[in-house]
Amino acid sequence: MDNRKLLGLTPAMGWNSWNTFTWDINEQLIRDVADVFVSEGYKEAGYEYIVIDDCWSLKERDQDGNLVADPAKFPSGMKALADYIHSKGLKFGMYSCVGTHTCAGYPGSFEHEFQDARLLAEWGVDYLKYDYCFKPRNLSGELMYKRMSLALKNCGRDILFSACNWGEDNVYQWIRASGAHMYRSTGDIQDNWDSVKKLAISQLDKECYTGAFCHNDMDMLIVGMHGGSNDGFIGSHSGGCTDTEYKTHFSLWSIMGSPLMIGCDIRNASQATKNTLLNPDLIAINQDTEGRGAYRIKPEPQWFHTDEVFMLVKVLADGDLAIGFFNLSDEQRQLSLQFWDIGLPYAEKISLSLYDCWEHKELGVFRERFAPTVPARDCVIVRAKLV
Ligand code: GAL
Repeated sequence: MDNRKLLGLTPAMGWNSWNTFTWDINEQLIRDVADVFVSEGYKEAGYEYIVIDDCWSLKERDQDGNLVADPAKFPSGMKALADYIHSKGLKFGMYSCVGTHTCAGYPGSFEHEFQDARLLAEWGVDYLKYDYCFKPRNLSGELMYKRMSLALKNCGRDILFSACNWGEDNVYQWIRASGAHMYRSTGDIQDNWDSVKKLAISQLDKECYTGAFCHNDMDMLIVGMHGGSNDGFIGSHSGGCTDTEYKTHFSLWSIMGSPLMIGCDIRNASQATKNTLLNPDLIAINQDTEGRGAYRIKPEPQWFHTDEVFMLVKVLADGDLAIGFFNLSDEQRQLSLQFWDIGLPYAEKISLSLYDCWEHKELGVFRERFAPTVPARDCVIVRAKLV
């Protein structure tokens, strides 16, 4: 099969410079991240794209209208950086914007879409994140994404197209047809628990739209940042989250089918951070080739009214189910799943063999229901096999 046809089959996995470094980026940092991808097992776990976000170019295009990499930050140029990343068996991502300028005020791609796509292809870029600032008011966002999608698909190189319009203009309704492989559905994440909770809950009813080749991007991961951003907005609550909160964040993004783009400084990641980001059982759920969104089950008893406690079920390609028991509330809760509600008729005596994806162990065979007790802000994720 033509490999190009598989571009975007499963959610992208990689690292993006924005959450921790924002404007403070340079080629040595990017090379170091590539090295760590290989030496610390990220590449082996499936992480592949290393993406430079905003603030990489000069403030003006050159006399031919081309974007110019800032020579102070990237003295060897983007082609050399791409070559280095490719030499490690990894892929290289860059950033531009629908409008005349990027969000940080660098040149955007408006009316330069095809020229920029050609330049990115020459440099060896494999991924483009495409932001929404300074969009011309009289033109629709939908048209702007159709344009760049067409430019990328005709630039002579396979480039994954990552749209970033923050969920505006009912993006769910038109983005898949525009040709993008993933679409930001939320405003910018912040390194605190409230942000994680808010973003996840906001997408629970949008899971029906995500899927293979066009994935709902709930924003880059904050796992392991622990307040490490150089930006006041992203890191506003110093200290970030606890490791348990990061675990729940990673579980939500994994089972909901979001791309997994790491946002912390992986050069200094703790063991707990690595255990989370490299969890093979969660990654397998996220990368399942059927690419289905998860459906939600509200907990019993029915009078238990809260958005913060729910179960998510994701149908997997091999007939298994990934089931997440999420307790985003501040008190311990027992969540009860009746197997009837996920399609098992009582009459047929089918049980579920459950495997715990965080403890990495078999839990045994269960009949009719499973009801784990979940601590505050925590979750239990199981992979269920019918027996
Ligand atoms: C925002 C975007 C962020 C980051 C930033 C760069 O619009 O949502 O993820 O790319 O712009 O300025």
